[in-house]
Amino acid sequence: MKLDVCFSPDLLPLYDLRGKVAVIVDVLRATSTIVTALAQGVTEVYPTATLDECAALGREQGCITAAERDGVAAAGFDLGNSPFGFLDGKLAVQGRALAISTTNGTQALRRSLAAQAIVCGAFLNLSAVADFAVAQGRDVLVVCAGWKGQFCLEDSLFGGALAERLATFGFDIASSDAALAALHLWQDARPTWPHYLLQSAAVRRLNALEAHDDFTFCMNVDTHPEILPLWRGDRLVRG
Ligand code: MLT
Repeated sequence: MKLDVCFSPDLLPLYDLRGKVAVIVDVLRATSTIVTALAQGVTEVYPTATLDECAALGREQGCITAAERDGVAAAGFDLGNSPFGFLDGKLAVQGRALAISTTNGTQALRRSLAAQAIVCGAFLNLSAVADFAVAQGRDVLVVCAGWKGQFCLEDSLFGGALAERLATFGFDIASSDAALAALHLWQDARPTWPHYLLQSAAVRRLNALEAHDDFTFCMNVDTHPEILPLWRGDRLVRG
């Protein structure tokens, strides 16, 4: 089996997703938030491309709605895209469905539906994703959500961390320059990680929004090794 890394959803047309496991990653913050939501008892997650679809699911199916654009919580929705929205107890989330729309993360997922299996990855559930990939025994494509088509450090580092893990199970990393680059980036960054990410654009954006705690939270590794957001039909459920 082979692991490859797609550094931006805009590069997806260059990849063949058929037969593969797609790991959608938006560490800051969409996939970290989805992992947290499922861990707090949300039953299913509808990732939508548009705010209108997200709002409609809230109206018609009574879902919790969470939406963000450019990092800022969108007006008229229950929550923004902070994992703390599912942790602070202000909104009852257990046993409810969630509709979520974000600038990059949910778009990346919607553009990866040709894959055989689709899961969401974050540092919070790194082991769940690695275990799933090993059990599937298929090629893996890490789809980095990035930022508006551009490369981002945090998703690429996750790709490298997953590559390092899967290499120990015999996955071929070396035949993809992208996978090798992600692996080397992770190995270079690890001694000072997560401090290394303080210089990233995503952390600067979160700091400007006074959401530095979100960054700190999303850097925890394997807080939820049991949570695997898995695509089933038209939604994510716990795998
Ligand atoms: C996204 O999907 O673009 C992100 O998760 C943005 C954010 O909320 O920080």
